[in-house]
Formats: sequence, structure tokens, C-alpha cells
Amino acid sequence: MSDTVSTGQPDTILKSVSSENSINGQRAPKTLPGEFYEQYLSRAAKNRQPDAIRSLLPLEHTPGVISLLAGKPNTSTFPISSLQFTTRDPASPSSNEIQLQLSPQELAVGLQYSLTRGLPDLQEWIHGLQAISHKREKGEGWTVAIGAGSQDLIYKAVTALVNPGEAVLIEAPVYAGVLPIFQSLDCDMIEVETDAQGIRSDSLRATLESWPAAKPKPKVLYTVPYGCNPTGMTASLERRLEVLALSREHGFLILEDDPYYYLYYGSAPRPPSYFQLEREQPDVGRVVRFDSLSKVLSSGIRVGFVSAPEVIVRAMELHTMMANLQPSSLSQAIALKLLRTWGYAGFRAHTEHVSQFYREKRDVFEAALRRHLADLVEWTTPEAGMFVWFKLLGTAADGSTLENDSESIIRTKAFEHGVLALPGTVFLPSGRKTAYVRAAFSLLPPEDVDEALKRLRVAILDARASSA
Ligand SMILES: Cc1ncc(COP(=O)(O)O)c(C=O)c1O
Repeated sequence: MSDTVSTGQPDTILKSVSSENSINGQRAPKTLPGEFYEQYLSRAAKNRQPDAIRSLLPLEHTPGVISLLAGKPNTSTFPISSLQFTTRDPASPSSNEIQLQLSPQELAVGLQYSLTRGLPDLQEWIHGLQAISHKREKGEGWTVAIGAGSQDLIYKAVTALVNPGEAVLIEAPVYAGVLPIFQSLDCDMIEVETDAQGIRSDSLRATLESWPAAKPKPKVLYTVPYGCNPTGMTASLERRLEVLALSREHGFLILEDDPYYYLYYGSAPRPPSYFQLEREQPDVGRVVRFDSLSKVLSSGIRVGFVSAPEVIVRAMELHTMMANLQPSSLSQAIALKLLRTWGYAGFRAHTEHVSQFYREKRDVFEAALRRHLADLVEWTTPEAGMFVWFKLLGTAADGSTLENDSESIIRTKAFEHGVLALPGTVFLPSGRKTAYVRAAFSLLPPEDVDEALKRLRVAILDARASSA
């Protein structure tokens, strides 16, 4: 059986494949067929050829096969002969520790080249995690690849989907680390506004409904839906559903960059991810989801993963083959040992501890904001992540006015007074002036937070005095 779906792309009526399969008793969703992505893949992605050796590597895992294939070094010549580490027990992190040692086989895997998409056992563990966290079962129109952090995968996904000069939808303010990717492709960055409920779907709709007929519509939307870097905002369920509906109507794919997913500490139940929500859509395959272990296990370990339709993952895999062959086997082997030992329940317990840790940090920071800056700035309380995004207010108690630009105060006055923060302008694709400032509350002890905000008060008052 097949079904017909309009993607919203001009002149494009595409067929989606209907699956009669049922996975774990649930009816599997309809998945978009591989040809659907033909219109999305960039010229660079289409031009990339597979590496002849790496393409055959998965066959080495065929039982009974003797491989004379890859020029792999013999691990017995490597000097590292054992690897042990200690981890906190997620069931009682303050009192118990678990000693771990990679088995000779695990160590050999960690020291050797492996598959371009990542260690098969870690891919498997991630499939299980996504089923628990997002209710997306393996085989339901998506697959996994591991990268050197999510940044590596975001870069590869963008270059697999976007041609130089094309228009892209970017929520604004946006994670400053993706701007150079779009800038290097000379993209026409279309800002989509955000507010306390996250991305503004009405702003997105208005942009798309007034899109010039002669100009190709954007193929991707980039968004950070939980504890957004820099605003700290989490997109509401309603907004997410509207964005999903718009993606079908106007034919764009959603790049869901979600490194703060496990750092949600809001009191209300968390909204599901786009990746989960799309399962309830008439078909699946419009969400490219990025996860990261950086905020919950280690940022130095450089392990992130993408969950996306096979065609997109394959295009990214070809990029990895030519750019860096694969993510680090050793990092993956360490992460896998830890994750398997903890199990999914342990991972969940650990991430709950981590999110509570940041909730407490948020509370300390907010209390200091109230103490020192309540009359000088305004902010919305973040419910996930590690950032507060606050606005310098334009009018002082004495009636003097302040420039609608945080940059000079933050870069010069604040620094002179011994405090560093980021002016909001660096998070805006257009680089326009803004009164906002991003402060990270992840690292500082309470006394340093207090001192920093005290200094910021003096810097702002000083700036006001000199601009009066
Ligand atoms: C929104 C966002 N995306 C991606 C990244 C990159 O994370 P990773 O360490 O997984 O590469 C960061 C890092 O701060 C981030 O804030």
C-alpha cells in the first residue's frame, strides 16, 4: 500500500511508503522513501563517493569471514595494555564508586579503527536509548551515526543538505557555534524569532507565507528546543506541533539540536522532542536529531550522535569517510563501557542528578540577579540548560537612558570591572545590536556568582553615568 503526500515544495508530489510492520506491538509509522531526499541533498553530498576500503568494512562483521581487507595496524604492537577507570554509581553518586576495566577485547576495539558510523555496540545502545527517551523504535525510518561531538554532525548535516547561497531558517538568537557553518556556505540566514515559549511559530509562518514565489523555499530550520543556548528557553508543546505542521506544509527539514535535552529541570512535565512528536504525524522523516554526551558525561570525550533518515545519515557518513574516517574508537569504547555498566536506568538516574545540579545553580544565579540587578535588567527564568539571557533595561531609576546595545558595556565596562559575559549580538545571525546578555551559570560557586553580579551592577551604573 502507498500513500500520497505533498511536501509543500513547488511541483512536488511525493509518495511515502506505507509500512504494515508492527514493532513491539505498535503500528510502525509510514516512512518517507529514499527518493524524497533527492531534492534536499546538496551538490557536495551528491558528489561524494564512498571510500572503497571503508565501504567494505561492515562486511568484516559477517560471521565466519576472514578479512584481508583493511590496512589495520596490529593492536598487539600498541603500548596501552589495560585501561581502568572509576565512575560514580548513579544510584548513590555521593557515596559509591564503581571500578571499571575494559576487557582485552574491548580494549582492542577501542585502540583500533572501526566503522565510520561508530562502534556497532554503541549504535545499538543508542537505538535503545532513543526508544526509551523518544519512543522511536529501531527500524522506524531512522538510523544512528556517532560523531566527534554533535558539532561535527551538525556541520556534516548542514553541508549534506544546503548548497552555497541557499536560504536557511535559523531561530534567533541562536547557538553562536553554528553561525560560522552557515556563513561559510554564504547562506541567506532567515531569522525566526523566539520568546519565552521558544521558537515563535507565528513568526515562522509569517515568513513562509510571504515567501517570494520566485525564490526557492528554505530546506532546513535549525532550532535548539530545550534550554536554548543562549536564551535558556524551552519550546512549548504547542509551538513544536505548529513547527512540525509547517515543516510538512512548506517542505523544510527540522535540524533539532538538543544537547540540553537531559538538562531539563522545569516543574511542568517536559514536552516531547520533535523526533518523538513526528511519530504522530502522517509520516516520519523530516526531523534530523542531534544528541550529545558533552553536557552529561564529558565534553572532552567528544561523543555525539545523530538520529535521522538513512539517506541523510549515509550522506554524512560519506563526509566522515573523507574528513576524519570515523569518530574516536577509544572515546566510544569508554562511553560504551560506562553506559552498559549503568544501563538505561543508571543513565536516567545520572542525568536526573545532573539536571538537578543545574537547577540549583540556576536558583543561586537567579537569587543573585534579584539581589543585585533587579532594577537594571529583566529576564525569564530558564527551565533547562545552563544559561540566563537577560536584557539591560534602558532607563535607570534616575531617569537616564541607556543605549539599546549591550556590547560596549559588556566588552569594555564589565571587563574593566573584572567580569566577563557575552553580548547578545554574537548570537544573532544578522549581528544587529541588542540589549541582551548571555551569562553561563554552570561553573561558578555561589560566592563568585554574587561577586560577578555585584561587579556587573557597578559596570552598568558606571556606563549609565558616563552616557548620561
Ligand atoms: C546548542 C549547542 N549545539 C551543539 C553544541 C556542540 O556540542 P558538542 O560538544 O556535542 O559538539 C553546543 C555546545 O555548547 C551547543 O550549545
